[in-house]
Amino acid sequence: MRYFAVVNGSDEALAGRPRSGAWFAAEGRAGMIYRSWLRSEGITPEVFDGRPVIGVANSWSELTPCNAHLRSVADAVKRGVWQAGGFPLEFPTMSLGETLMRPTAMLFRNLMAMEVEELLRANPLDGVVLLSGCDKTTPAMLMAAASADLPAIMVTGGPMLNGKFRGADVGSGTHVWRFEAELVAGRMTQEECVAAESGMARSCGHCMTMGTASTMACLAEALGMQLPGSAAWPAADSRRYVTAQTAGQRIVQLVREDLRPSQIMTRQAFENAIRVNAAIGGSTNAVIHLLAIAGRLGVPLRLDDFDELARPVPTLVNLMPSGRYLMEDFCYAGGLPAVMRELQDFLHNDHVGVTGRTLAETVAGAECWNRDVIAGLDAPLQPPGSGTAVLRGNLCPGGAVIKQSAASPQLLKHRGQALVFDSIEEYHEAAGREDLPVDAATVLVVRGAGPKGYPGMPEIGNFVLPRKLLERGVSDMVRISDARMSGTGFGTVVLHVAPESAVGGPLAFVRSGDWIELDTPGRTLTLEVSDGELDRRRAGWAPARPPWARGYARLYTEHVLQADQGADLDFLVGASGAQVPRQNH
Ligand code: FES
Repeated sequence: MRYFAVVNGSDEALAGRPRSGAWFAAEGRAGMIYRSWLRSEGITPEVFDGRPVIGVANSWSELTPCNAHLRSVADAVKRGVWQAGGFPLEFPTMSLGETLMRPTAMLFRNLMAMEVEELLRANPLDGVVLLSGCDKTTPAMLMAAASADLPAIMVTGGPMLNGKFRGADVGSGTHVWRFEAELVAGRMTQEECVAAESGMARSCGHCMTMGTASTMACLAEALGMQLPGSAAWPAADSRRYVTAQTAGQRIVQLVREDLRPSQIMTRQAFENAIRVNAAIGGSTNAVIHLLAIAGRLGVPLRLDDFDELARPVPTLVNLMPSGRYLMEDFCYAGGLPAVMRELQDFLHNDHVGVTGRTLAETVAGAECWNRDVIAGLDAPLQPPGSGTAVLRGNLCPGGAVIKQSAASPQLLKHRGQALVFDSIEEYHEAAGREDLPVDAATVLVVRGAGPKGYPGMPEIGNFVLPRKLLERGVSDMVRISDARMSGTGFGTVVLHVAPESAVGGPLAFVRSGDWIELDTPGRTLTLEVSDGELDRRRAGWAPARPPWARGYARLYTEHVLQADQGADLDFLVGASGAQVPRQNH
C-alpha cells in the first residue's frame, strides 16, 4: 500500500498536491488527528494517498420536498467519485423548502450561501459536487461556490414527473394559482382542489413547470456549471442517476485540471445564461439570482443587461407558465442542449464549462425531437424581445421587471388609477369585499414586500385578483409591487420595484387614485404625480421599525441590497477563495 507521504504542511512541501494535503499529509499529532477521526467511519488508509477529496454538499431535507430524494442522488455521485479515483465525503447543508418556510425561503438564500461557502473553505476538500433542487438552493450553492472558488459541479435533483389531473397536464405552482382563482370564482370546489393535490406532485423532484427551480437548473447548465442535459432529466428517471454518477467522475478530473468556478462563470457565461433565460421563458427570479452570483465573482452585470441582451432572443420553449408543456416533455424533446444548439447565433460558443469542452463542442450533437415543445428560430413560440423586460421611470428609479411572455398582451400598455395597499396582508383582507373600489382597469399596488420591508421579498407579486372581478370573469389586471413572483406564476405583474417602499422609494408615496402608466414596449413605468408633489409626500416620511429585533433576520435587514443589485448581503459580495488564513494544529 502506498501510504500518504507525510509532509510538514508548508506551502513548498504541499506544492502540486491537492488542497486536502494541508490536512492529511501533515506529520505528527495534527495529521494523526485529521486522519484518525475520519477512519472512525471505517475508511481504509489509502484514501489519504493524495487523491482528490470531493465534498458532496447535500441540501437533502424532508422539509424540502423538492430535495427529499437527494440522498440517493448523492450515492450515485459518490460511485462516480470512487470510480475516478477520488475520495467522496458527503455532508449536509442548510436546505430551503420553498413551500414550507416562513416568512419566505428567499430570506434565507444568503444564509445558506454563507453557510455552504464556509463549509467548503473550512473542510479538507479539493472539489465539490453541489446537490440542489428547490428554488433557492441552486443560487445559494452557486453563490457559495463562486465565493469559495473550489472546483465545483452542480447536480440539480431534476423535476417531478408531469402533473396529471382528470386526464390533463397540471403544472406545479401554475395550477395552484389557476385552481385558486377557480375556487374563489366558485367554478371549482374545495374537494376538487384536494383531489388535484396529489396529481400535481406525482413523484420526487422539484416543480416541473418552468418555474424558478427549472429555470435555475437550466441556467446552471447554461453557465457551464452542470453537465449538458442535466437540468431536464426527471428526478424519477434512471438517467438522473447516470448524470449524477458522471458528475462524480468528472469532478475528480476537474480538480486535476484545477478548473474553478471563477474561470467558468465569466461575463460570457452570464451573457449566455441571460439569453438562454429569454429563450426558455425563464423565471423573473433569475434576474436577482444571476446578479447575486455575478456580484460574488466581480463580474460586471447590470439590471439593464437582462433587457438589452435578451431583446434579440425569441421565446422557444413552450412550457408553463408561458406555454403549455412541462419539464418531462422538455426532457424528451432534447432539453437544454437542443435549445442552446438552436441559439448558437446568440451565444458565446467558445465558452468552456465543467465538461472542459467548448459550448460548440458540447451541443454539436444535440437534436430537437419535438418542435411543439422546443420551437425553432424560424417559428418561435413568441417573437424576439418577449422575455423579461426592465422598466424605468419615476416609480422605479432603480428599475423593475415584467415577464412579458406570462402577461396579457393587451395589458402590456395600460393606464389606470392606483388602488394601494401597504402590505399583502392588508390586500388579502380587502380582496373579498364587494364594496372594494376596483374595476378591471384599476392598477393594484402592494408595497412593503421588498427585501428589507417584508423582509425577504416574498413571492406575492402575482396576488390573486379581487373576488368580485374574478366572479365577473376578469382574469388579469396590472399589479405592481416591490415583491417577487413565483417562477410558476403568471399575469401582468410588475415586480422588483426598486428602491422598495421600506427604504423610501417612490412606491412608498403612491396614493389610491393616482394615475399610473405602464408602457412595456417603451420600457417605462410612470407615476403621473409631479416631482414637487412627490417631495411633499416624502417630507416627514420615516422608515417603519423592522419587525425583527434580533438574530439572522436583523442581520439581513441591516445588510440586504436592493433587488437591482441581487439582494445579497452587502458584506457577502465578492469572494474569499479557498485559502484558510489560520490553522490551529
Ligand atoms: Fe421547490 Fe417549486 S417548491 S421547486
